[in-house]
Amino acid sequence: MMQKIDHVGIAVKDLQQAIVKYETILDSLCYKIETVDSEKVKTAFLKIGESKIELLEAVNQEGPIADFVNKKGEGIHHIAYEVTDIQAEMNRLKQQGFRILNEGAKKGADNKLVCFIHPKDCNGVLTELVQSLD
Ligand code: CO
Repeated sequence: MMQKIDHVGIAVKDLQQAIVKYETILDSLCYKIETVDSEKVKTAFLKIGESKIELLEAVNQEGPIADFVNKKGEGIHHIAYEVTDIQAEMNRLKQQGFRILNEGAKKGADNKLVCFIHPKDCNGVLTELVQSLD
């Protein structure tokens, strides 16, 4: 089942500066900073009600966030929906012709199983599905 917006991912150039800025905007402290080696990205999470903001900084000049920032600059990178059964949703969307960008669900930031759907199949929005492992 699709449940809610889990988080919005924002690609940034300088994570520390972005954390300070979003702590001010949301009036809420960053509660987690985590490097995801497989994505070559450093992430920071802030809560806003039931949802979260995920700030993403590339750890080097490779990887999807480096590519995104080099091409488009800082900005909204993806929207993530929480699901109860990620494999079931991947199967459902695959059957509808959506391109899933990874073979199986993989371990992402914030103790989640995640997968991504091609932005061209989602009206230009990179779409992430997340299933909590907590
Ligand atoms: Co995300």
